[in-house]
Amino acid sequence: MSSSLSSPSVLLNTGVQMPLLGLGTYKLVASEEVLRAVDAALAAGYRAFDSAAVYENEAGLGRALRELLPKYGLIREDVFIISKLDPKDQGERAMEGALQSLSQLDLGYIDLYLIHCPGTQGLAVTDQRNPGNRAQSWAILEELHGQGKLKAIGVSNYTPAHMRELMQSCKITPAVLQVEFHPKLCQRELRSVCKEYGVCFQSYSSLGKGKLLTDPVVSEVAKNCERTPAQVLLRWAVQQGVPVLPKSSNPDRIQGNAQMFDFTLSDVDMDRMSALDCGQKYCRDSSNIV
Ligand code: A2P
Repeated sequence: MSSSLSSPSVLLNTGVQMPLLGLGTYKLVASEEVLRAVDAALAAGYRAFDSAAVYENEAGLGRALRELLPKYGLIREDVFIISKLDPKDQGERAMEGALQSLSQLDLGYIDLYLIHCPGTQGLAVTDQRNPGNRAQSWAILEELHGQGKLKAIGVSNYTPAHMRELMQSCKITPAVLQVEFHPKLCQRELRSVCKEYGVCFQSYSSLGKGKLLTDPVVSEVAKNCERTPAQVLLRWAVQQGVPVLPKSSNPDRIQGNAQMFDFTLSDVDMDRMSALDCGQKYCRDSSNIV
């Protein structure tokens, strides 16, 4: 990774650094919207971008980066691109799906490619073909990793059981597990499984889809340290070494969300926020997928 990386980073088990801060792009679809968000993010120091085949913005993200990197004196190697396999391509179509992501992004390689979820679109959560399909997807990701097209591979929305299953059969240990994580969903078991296997635990929806921004405890902590609720929610995660991917389409919020490396939350405030843990999920729930 280039030294021009301006955002603090974590070391993956591949030996590569991944920025602690990345822009979430879920629901950013229109080309102009993607361009504006990527522009604001690069200006604010973001060096990672999180897309997915199902977000239908891989092509727009690739185009925006090709256009905007020179404006900031950056090259392809200065940014870290994450994307994910479409759940409809889980199993025997995984090669096609991953190659499609590579061609849509058109950035030469993908820094981190994830199995988006343990299930297969179109199959019931109880369908016994699910484990075989995700194992097949993983083997295909391993193959593309071997070819250098996917620099790192990982999974998203896996439960502790899915992680243990993968660890029994994989040739390559996943580099990252990306899941919903915020004070109301502290994911203690998953974090300890990741620690045990040397997998980087990465957060999405650190703001609880925006719903935690008005939580009274979060608001009070924010007021005490003269920060925004979004900044303290993101700080709570990165202070634990957890990389975050806040999504915003608004340039001011994109800029504001990046301001979390210049302050520290006290142990008391960290503990008050962690005490909100109640298993609340605002996003998809994979716990029933066999
Ligand atoms: P918007 O795109 O209009 O900024 P999460 O990352 O937890 O899924 O949260 C994303 C949601 O939070 C989006 O709806 C986004 O809306 C909103 N959001 C992101 N950053 C902020 C912020 N700093 N203040 C208020 N809302 C925010």
